[in-house]
Amino acid sequence: MTVLWKMKRSMAWNPFKLIFLCITFFIFATRQAKGADDLYRFCSEEDRSSDNSSYQTILRTLLSSLSFNATANANGFYNNTILATNSSDTVYGLFMCRGDLLPHACKDCVANATQTLSSDTNCSLSKSGLIWYNECMVRYSNLSFFSTVDRTPALYSWNVANISSNLSSFNSLLDNTMNETTHEAANSSKRYSAKQGNLSGIQTLYCLTQCTQDLSPQQCSDCLVEAISRIRTCCDGKQGGRVLFPSCNIRYELYPFYRVTDDAPQGLVPETTYAHTDSEYSEDPGYISHNCSNNNSDAAFRSNLGTLFSGLSSNATSNYGFQTHEGTAYGLFRCRIDIPSRLCQLCIQNSTDKITSECGLASTEAIIWYNHCWLRYSDRNFFSSTETSPRFVNLNFSNSNPIQSSVASELSNQLAKVATMTGNTDNKFQTDDSLRLNDKQTVFILGQCSSDLSSNSCIGCLNDVIGTAIPWSSLGSLGGRVLFPSCILRFELFQFYNLTPTTPTAPPPPPGESQRRTIILIVTSSILASGILFTFCYYLIRKNIRKHSRAILQENFGQESSTIESLQFNLPIIEAATSNFSQKNKIGKGGFGEVYKGILFDGRSIAVKRLSKNSKQGIEEFKNEVLLIAKLQHRNLVAFIGFCLDEQEKILIYEYVPNKSLDYFLFDTKQEKVLSWIERHKIIGGIARGILYLHEHSRLKVIHRDLKPSNVLLDENMNPKISDFGLARIIEIDQEEESTNRIIGTYGYMSPEYAMFGQFSEKSDVYSFGVMILEIISGKKNMNSHESHHVADGLLNFVWRNWRDETTLNALDPKLKENYSNVEVMRYIQIGLLCVQENLDARPTMATIVSYLSSHTIELPFPQEPSFFLNHRTNPIVAHESSSGQDANTSIPSSTNDISISEFYPR
Ligand SMILES: *[C@@H]1O[C@H](CO)[C@@H](O)[C@H](O)[C@H]1NC(C)=O
Ligand SMILES: *[C@@H]1O[C@H](CO)[C@@H](O)[C@H](O)[C@H]1NC(C)=O
Ligand SMILES: *[C@@H]1O[C@H](CO)[C@@H](O)[C@H](O)[C@H]1NC(C)=O
Ligand SMILES: *[C@@H]1O[C@H](CO)[C@@H](O)[C@H](O)[C@H]1NC(C)=O
Ligand SMILES: *[C@@H]1O[C@H](CO)[C@@H](O)[C@H](O)[C@H]1NC(C)=O
Ligand SMILES: *[C@@H]1O[C@H](CO)[C@@H](O)[C@H](O)[C@H]1NC(C)=O
Ligand SMILES: *[C@@H]1O[C@H](CO)[C@@H](O)[C@H](O)[C@H]1NC(C)=O
Ligand SMILES: *[C@@H]1O[C@H](CO)[C@@H](O)[C@H](O)[C@H]1NC(C)=O
Repeated sequence: MTVLWKMKRSMAWNPFKLIFLCITFFIFATRQAKGADDLYRFCSEEDRSSDNSSYQTILRTLLSSLSFNATANANGFYNNTILATNSSDTVYGLFMCRGDLLPHACKDCVANATQTLSSDTNCSLSKSGLIWYNECMVRYSNLSFFSTVDRTPALYSWNVANISSNLSSFNSLLDNTMNETTHEAANSSKRYSAKQGNLSGIQTLYCLTQCTQDLSPQQCSDCLVEAISRIRTCCDGKQGGRVLFPSCNIRYELYPFYRVTDDAPQGLVPETTYAHTDSEYSEDPGYISHNCSNNNSDAAFRSNLGTLFSGLSSNATSNYGFQTHEGTAYGLFRCRIDIPSRLCQLCIQNSTDKITSECGLASTEAIIWYNHCWLRYSDRNFFSSTETSPRFVNLNFSNSNPIQSSVASELSNQLAKVATMTGNTDNKFQTDDSLRLNDKQTVFILGQCSSDLSSNSCIGCLNDVIGTAIPWSSLGSLGGRVLFPSCILRFELFQFYNLTPTTPTAPPPPPGESQRRTIILIVTSSILASGILFTFCYYLIRKNIRKHSRAILQENFGQESSTIESLQFNLPIIEAATSNFSQKNKIGKGGFGEVYKGILFDGRSIAVKRLSKNSKQGIEEFKNEVLLIAKLQHRNLVAFIGFCLDEQEKILIYEYVPNKSLDYFLFDTKQEKVLSWIERHKIIGGIARGILYLHEHSRLKVIHRDLKPSNVLLDENMNPKISDFGLARIIEIDQEEESTNRIIGTYGYMSPEYAMFGQFSEKSDVYSFGVMILEIISGKKNMNSHESHHVADGLLNFVWRNWRDETTLNALDPKLKENYSNVEVMRYIQIGLLCVQENLDARPTMATIVSYLSSHTIELPFPQEPSFFLNHRTNPIVAHESSSGQDANTSIPSSTNDISISEFYPR
């Protein structure tokens, strides 16, 4: 059990690492993360040889032959087999370089990869291993894998920046470009293709697909199609993403991460030229630009602004970044930290003077950028939000004569690296001069974010600069800058910053670390096979959260304590919004309090959850929980807006979703609208993605614990939004053990293990989701709470019997008369049945479910008879503990935004 021991030791402080270890444990593989610049490495721990064995010698021979053969002739790919006298010691291996790589770069990458594998004590003894870099991969095994398509282990990663333009047109461009690329890659001898799509005037979408060259065109195409189908799962709405399988991989970005044309770098790269003070490091504050809004401010605001400015100015003597507010006037400044503090002070003095003279205190919002600093104010609280406009862009465009494609590719990759490094420094500032283009030219880069941003928001902001502000296909010369309100990026061929800063900058974390922030690993099939281990890991994690919860919070939110300010609302504001909690604004009542509709002063419609007074939580704990909830942002989750804390009151504020909840459309007999199959299909998919986000992709693992149709709200476009996630710990109840002695949830949707023993996990959410699928398809309620004592023949049983007897379509909602596909309906029913299996290991994970839903080609396992635990619900633990008050009231259709529960785990 050495693996377990290692897990225990290393998980003490880093919950992310902990989840990671659990996942690698499932696939019996391990990775060492000691600052190497590989993306990931997997080396099987299941099957290992011993020190100085003949296998180890043969593996060394193989790795050195790969490295040796990474020559120009190899064309970026080479496979080899080293035969042994004992056939179980034979080793098969290959390397593959990214198709656009020049031979010397390929050779370097393969040399690093083989070197890393043979010096990694785990890998050098392992019977199979795999390592991925940006530019190449190396793989070996004692079993032949040539000419077969392998999809595990899989690695998914994405660009933190979100798509801000129209998502559906982005997605269709992505689909089409990927489709063309796939076709071309499968039919080319290198099994590689990269293509661009024109997204807008200056934005280009760059797509790359590649298979190992041992695959046939058909195999390559199959592998790539599967990889593309996973993009929606990992990377939907993101500016970049990749799916790496052992046999093929795909990637897309809004910057040229590969060489678009075949030109090799040659000659000097054209420089951008500037006026004197801007062409080197200068002590001049260097005014650049400003932007005032047209709105007129009132006298009170103007007076606050005066005070705000003097507060900012006076703080510039001791700080390089400061934010504060005076009444409703919010302001911040940020200085570059490579300058001495007297220059910061001078720059802020100059900015407040200039902004006053230019905007005349009449604007409600303004920003001014200098070479040394920038300063903003507004009448709204903009702290901690990433803002990308107004923007200042100073770059040379040339459609006819852009810089060489190889340079654009090197530059954009380096800028992306600097973006990540900047976000990971303590002071969100990073300079870099490691990119040498040739003997004469070095690129100097400076990235900085507003200090109120979290690491991820900073990385996202800078990536947004790289993806949306730099015209990669028509950049005319190397050099320029982009200034956003939340972050700035400059790159030049001369040194424009102070190389010996006066304040020490926090060292960037080793690259391996920084990469991992943006990468999450999902290994679907193997996880399925190891449900027991998963449960084990899961409990281990959970135990630890309690021990180290403070450290975890510190780690997750240390720098974001200011966030809590922006989320907090005063009671008078909430009272005004809800007309003093008037009865006519009341829209629901749940086990944990009442729900009101309200209109906030800025016009936003909100749902106000007034928690009943029996919560035992202290103020700090409450705030911490709220901060966790605020991190959960996904299009299929109801947006969290803030909270209010008063001596008597604990209130949570969510966006108000105008349409009714799903149960109304499914079960209310009075309503006229019948959901079409297309709508049901879309609702099921949306709910699945929302739960997957909670389970896998959010910063903290969240188990909802009360998924049911009344907790799924539908917006005007019938997009589902899950509500009431993340409330478990606020409402809780002393609870020490993994299993809770008080069952929170709703009968009919609770998994047997949860209802009977209080054990909850992702798989209990999967169960609830399965019940929902079957209800959505059949239009029948699983059980009515009034009948909960004598359910003899629930929905699950009904659907199961029809499925078993091959009359599956009888289970379909009779109101659905046409426009559905039999195959699709039957497939969805089968998925629903798989989710409600009694044995939790037999239930798929949400990641698997999402892949089942999005692909018609994945074969589904056969379900067993689901459990009808309600039949033997004599267990006294269950009998008296329903606490979601909602269901006593099923006749109120607008159960919008009730309260229920969910639980967080660190990842
Ligand atoms: C393997 O060989 C090295 C040097 O040949 C030796 O120092 C080491 O003790 C050996 N290890 C084992 C487990 O035999
Ligand atoms: C690969 O490298 C080995 C040496 O490790 C060499 O003997 C062999 O000829 C090379 N193969 C090719 C195809 O270049
Ligand atoms: C490389 O892969 C091909 C295709 O599967 C296979 O036929 C060939 O034997 C492999 N070459 C070596 C040296 O193993
Ligand atoms: C081959 O190696 C395996 C394990 O490495 C061993 O069990 C087996 O006895 C060996 N066979 C021969 C013929 O040496
Ligand atoms: C190879 O390793 C060296 C030293 O660790 C590093 O500087 C270089 O960038 C690496 N090259 C590649 C292609 O990863
Ligand atoms: C991709 O191409 C295949 C065949 O070339 C076609 O059937 C499929 O519909 C295309 N998909 C998209 C999204 O264009
Ligand atoms: C910094 O700003 C705050 C709030 O505006 C103000 O109260 C304080 O005096 C300033 N600090 C210094 C050192 O001037
Ligand atoms: C801004 O700074 C410069 C010094 O670089 C100074 O000459 C100028 O007077 C300052 N402007 C204002 C408005 O303070």
